[in-house]
Amino acid sequence: MNFLLKAFLLMLPAYISSPGAVLSRGKMPIDLGKNFFDGRRILGRGKTFEGLALGTLLGFIAGVIVELYSGLYGSYFNIFLLSFGGLFGDICNSFLKRRLGIEQGKKLPVLDQLNLVFGSWFLCFVFSRDWFLESFNWYIAITVLVMTPLLHRAANIAAYKLRLKDVPW
Ligand code: CTP
Ligand code: MG
Repeated sequence: MNFLLKAFLLMLPAYISSPGAVLSRGKMPIDLGKNFFDGRRILGRGKTFEGLALGTLLGFIAGVIVELYSGLYGSYFNIFLLSFGGLFGDICNSFLKRRLGIEQGKKLPVLDQLNLVFGSWFLCFVFSRDWFLESFNWYIAITVLVMTPLLHRAANIAAYKLRLKDVPW
């Protein structure tokens, strides 16, 4: 398989789960509306249970469909790690943004684009290391790091135009 396609498909569950969370228009905040010790929200109202659930599910379904044709992920558990991991990275990113005093919905360059990569890679590295190291060799990894911000930019402009998001990032 072409390495560009392989990089894209390996990341697909995470590429679907992040925008999938936005589609939920969720209301129940994961931080339950609570503040951290610094007086700021733990995560903010942009991270909801509905988003986490719907995003994880949609990313998982996309991965299962690709798996039936390609066998790329090796197991449904790995698909879950990629899908959920993308949103795990997103949640960690929001936690960091609040600690840095960045308000919900405001930008954190680079990490806003790559948190889904780091989150999914982290969970795969912890829970499915052999498969992860086999699948994401160095050139696939570099391809993902370059490709993701480009796809992120394109997807956010599209979501903004479709009025799914208030800001084009
Ligand atoms: N969203 C959600 N649940 C999630 C992730 C995202 O409901 N777990 C929805 C929210 O409506 C959120 C929107 O998707 O406002 C956009 O997501 P994102 O840009 O990641 O969050 P922000 O609102 O920008 O918040 P933050 O500043 O914390 O990144
Ligand atoms: Mg945002």
